[in-house]
Amino acid sequence: MTTASRIVEAGDGGISWSKWSVAAILGVPVAAGVGYWCWRHFGTEIGLGKKSPSSDGRTRSALDVPRKIGEADASEFTAGMTEEQNPLKKALAHKDAGNKLFKAGKYAEAIECYNMAIEVCPTDKKQDLATFYQNRAAAYEQMKVYERVKEDCSKALELNPKYVKALQRRAKACELTQDLLQSLEDVTAACMLEGFQNQTTLLTADRVLKELGRKHAKEAMAKRVPIMPSKHFIKTYFSSFVEDPFTKSLKNGKESDSAEADLRGLARARQAFIQQNFEDIIPACTEEISSVDSSNKDEARILRATFYLLLGDHDNALEDFAIVVNSDEADVKLRVNALIKRASLHMQLEEPSKSIEDFHLAVKLDSENSDIYHHRGQVHLLMEKMDEAIADFNKSVAINPNFPISYVQKCYSDYRHAFNTRNMEMMQEVMRAFQSAIERFPGCSECYTLYAQVLSDQQEYEKADQHFKKAIEVDPENATIYVHRGLLHLQWNGDLSKAVELITHALKLDSKCEFAHETLGTIEVQRGNLRRAIELFDKAIPLAKTEMEMSHLFSLRDAAVAQAKVADKMGINISNVGLP
Ligand SMILES: *[C@@H]1O[C@H](CO)[C@@H](O)[C@H](O)[C@H]1NC(C)=O
Ligand SMILES: *[C@@H]1O[C@H](CO)[C@@H](O)[C@H](O)[C@H]1NC(C)=O
Ligand SMILES: *[C@@H]1O[C@H](CO)[C@@H](O)[C@H](O)[C@H]1NC(C)=O
Repeated sequence: MTTASRIVEAGDGGISWSKWSVAAILGVPVAAGVGYWCWRHFGTEIGLGKKSPSSDGRTRSALDVPRKIGEADASEFTAGMTEEQNPLKKALAHKDAGNKLFKAGKYAEAIECYNMAIEVCPTDKKQDLATFYQNRAAAYEQMKVYERVKEDCSKALELNPKYVKALQRRAKACELTQDLLQSLEDVTAACMLEGFQNQTTLLTADRVLKELGRKHAKEAMAKRVPIMPSKHFIKTYFSSFVEDPFTKSLKNGKESDSAEADLRGLARARQAFIQQNFEDIIPACTEEISSVDSSNKDEARILRATFYLLLGDHDNALEDFAIVVNSDEADVKLRVNALIKRASLHMQLEEPSKSIEDFHLAVKLDSENSDIYHHRGQVHLLMEKMDEAIADFNKSVAINPNFPISYVQKCYSDYRHAFNTRNMEMMQEVMRAFQSAIERFPGCSECYTLYAQVLSDQQEYEKADQHFKKAIEVDPENATIYVHRGLLHLQWNGDLSKAVELITHALKLDSKCEFAHETLGTIEVQRGNLRRAIELFDKAIPLAKTEMEMSHLFSLRDAAVAQAKVADKMGINISNVGLP
């Protein structure tokens, strides 16, 4: 069972948005390297986690139960009046007739009856009037006249703002007519009034949120301003390649004594890289590429593409990569490097088969390049293809036994394999392998974090925490480790304030850490601090690099905005909704 579903099913009284949202981030794999930031959103439902359908399977009628005249409050009828003379009685009789026609599928005739009911009903009988409008909306719905559905539901809601059925119906009509914001607001109100217990309503909410998230992400993506990730992130990204021609050339070459300003083209880019002046790399590479007599164009192109990729400028990255990949003259090491990086980009763009194709081509060109297997292993791990992942990491380690990240990722995939096949013997072996990995590579933070993840899976929280602490010791600038440690505390004993403290620290280290903003935002939703949550999601959104990731963030934001709005409108105190 995954961590996420374990939390969701922890079962303290039904699900609520506040719970599923934290549950979703608890499933984030530590194993995903920095090149694969978006993949953690794969397979996590925005919505509900996995819960069996509501046991309360009663289906209610679309119409509100006709109030039997005899059941009515006696005071509503003036004594001594006949049905003909009493307007409310008359209205209820029209409604009953309408309901009969509705059930017989005669919707137009039913509408006539509801019209009459509305016409004769005294205006102070708000509940009854609301019912008539709601029922007429149901008939219009059957006739697919959605604008009328919306109008009638709105009238019903003016008369009775907490009318769940009218909210649900308007939500549906708005969804069908692409008025998604109103739909979300209505379905949110319905969810809240039903105490998040009605599975159908929750599923509608889920659907609308996804659709709205996608729409918002598409719009935002079109005007996205590329943001350079933190220096630490860039450093880690490059260190996930052992055979990167660019960083290798830096190690072998002498550092130039010249100031960056005196250099041109690739030399300038090199100097900018060394001095962590990353903003200048793309222009410097462009200078190299456009110079007439350059022999380093391919190298400059890959470097530029890598920075486009880091900035989330996918089209430009793909264009540069393609030129190198398709060039028969280009150096094989360069082509392979371009293929691996393009493969990771394809993963971000939800094109796993193209990704695998690029890896395949890379193997054909240079079968002894350990980077190919290391990165393909990560892709396979994320795709849950354990056998392939293990084989890849095996190969990567065999070629390059001293590359710690590959080594420990192999341990991790072995662990997953042992776990899935319930092989206890292998499991123990894997635990020993982790310990020896830590002894062999005490400076590698991944060794600690992946082991910590495994320990936390085994519910050995205390030990897991110790290893996260060690990871922080060796990589104190790494914001994501703090976030993972925060999540551990959440899972361990629901310690929200400790989690908040750790994640706040992560944001101090790296204000561009989207994962930290998102996670903290989700926790704030859980704590009922919706305004703060919205602020945090607003900070995360511009940092998202792919449309998929952005659409996930918009869904979180839209959900929080809708809940805040409804809570205000209905006077619900949202802070009571969170976990104890
Ligand atoms: C849940 O909501 C749906 C409409 O979204 C409604 O038809 C159904 O009767 C509700 N179920 C319960 C148990 O209230
Ligand atoms: C931070 O640490 C994690 C876990 O060790 C690692 O996967 C990641 O690449 C590191 N760097 C960054 C920038 O996240
Ligand atoms: C991986 O290597 C180990 C030995 O290091 C071996 O036992 C195992 O069979 C290999 N697995 C695969 C899938 O190649």
